[in-house]
Amino acid sequence: MTELRTNHVKIFDTTLRDGEQAPGFSMSTDAKLIVARALKALNVDVIEAGFAAASPGDAAAVRTIAAEIDGPTICSLARANRADIEAAALALEPARKKRIHAFIGTSPLHREAKLKMSRAAIIARIGEVVALARSIVEDVEFSAEDAIRTERDFLLEAATAAIEAGATTINIPDTVGYTTPEEIRDLFSFLTANAPPHVVFSTHCHDDLGMAVANSLAAVRGGARQIECAVNGIGERAGNCSLEEAVMALSVRRDFFGLSTQVDTTMIYQASQALARVTHNPIPRNKAIVGRNAFAHEAGIHQHGVLADRRTYEIMEASTVGVPSNALVLGKHSGKHAVAARIKSLGFEVSHRRIEALFPDFKRLADTCREVTDADLVRLVAGDAKTDGRIGPWRMRKTELRVDLEEDARPFARITMEHDNGERRTVTEEGDGPIDAAFAAVCAITGVPGVISVLDLHHVATEGVVRAEAVVEVEGEYFSGKAEEVDIADAAVAAFVAAVNQAAAMRACGARRVKVAAGA
Ligand code: KIV
Ligand code: ZN
Repeated sequence: MTELRTNHVKIFDTTLRDGEQAPGFSMSTDAKLIVARALKALNVDVIEAGFAAASPGDAAAVRTIAAEIDGPTICSLARANRADIEAAALALEPARKKRIHAFIGTSPLHREAKLKMSRAAIIARIGEVVALARSIVEDVEFSAEDAIRTERDFLLEAATAAIEAGATTINIPDTVGYTTPEEIRDLFSFLTANAPPHVVFSTHCHDDLGMAVANSLAAVRGGARQIECAVNGIGERAGNCSLEEAVMALSVRRDFFGLSTQVDTTMIYQASQALARVTHNPIPRNKAIVGRNAFAHEAGIHQHGVLADRRTYEIMEASTVGVPSNALVLGKHSGKHAVAARIKSLGFEVSHRRIEALFPDFKRLADTCREVTDADLVRLVAGDAKTDGRIGPWRMRKTELRVDLEEDARPFARITMEHDNGERRTVTEEGDGPIDAAFAAVCAITGVPGVISVLDLHHVATEGVVRAEAVVEVEGEYFSGKAEEVDIADAAVAAFVAAVNQAAAMRACGARRVKVAAGA
């Protein structure tokens, strides 16, 4: 029975169930559908769409996803009771491929403190609910909640009861993120050696000690052939095993694991972004695989290496996970090679001597900001650098923001700005909120069609100020601006203006953007 099953590791995505359960990540049915479409594009094996018995909203979301998403198996969680199993079955009705996922706690703590059930009662309940679920659907998964803290002999007894009643997937959750790679590998080796080969053992690890991905991969080494995971690693408390990390580990280190998934990795970035957008939870900059820094290099030595051969500092290509391109971020750590390469990619041909000459200006500018943008570089090359900061042609003169709570009116903003040439413009715009309205007014005044892409706001209590950083997309190009103000709205608008100003400066330079002669 030790003969291992297949080289295919199923990816069971629980973003919409365990992930959605976490504080700050709840999603409407529409939001869930957006994520479910991204999961379908990823080609995951199973989408756990929700917990139908938890609420009418959850049941509706499971049903909507079951009706619309064709491809992956659609699954609903259910406690080990008749009502939950029936609610799951009802919600899953429209699905072409469906799975009921029943669970009950098996550890001493769960049995005694939570369920107040004996071992025998739990085994009997498992048999009953799995058989009930199996009488409705073909595909039944059973989870022994808190499996990791369950006595081994009892865990095997529980798994065997579920298998005998018809479960074909047995999930062994590390509900509290307690295990270690060596321990979980050993546990899966034991379980898989003592179960029929048609049964898929599944791992479901939480990240309380930061080991969810490592533990999931170790479980796979021990014989698990399904990983339960979530996009961006969201889930209860510290989260679940991150889908993108587990999938890319199996892919990049195929030489080591010898296993594969059916995930289309080029869709990873899109799914990660979709989830961040609908839950309003930005992805940490340094997040593995999908963070903004995952393929960005600022240190001079690294930039030099990547320019010579990307593989010196990258183990996978940005395009394999759908990240638009590997970015050399220009900042104070960048070297001349990277600056020269970026200037060249912007369409300028400048001599080595010219790079040497402008490099001190570049470093001075980089000291004043987090990233040097393409617009800054153009201004440097064109001999137009303002090393005192990033002031473009527009200056803010007046900001009025209004939200009328009594009237049923849309929030609006009246903005006055002045151009370096003395021209003054005032524009009033409506928006979803007053800041959104202000952004629209700034765009109308400057003629720059900017769309806010990132807005980071930090209240520095000790200094009584708000620091804002905005990244604005203008027709496919990105400009960043930062500002510091006492008021949060003023800070947001000022950062937006700083970015838009760069776009305006870039456009002005663009008129002169004939190639700068070598040595100019
Ligand atoms: O963490 C856990 O134990 C779970 C189960 C319900 C599968 O999420
Ligand atoms: Zn969980």
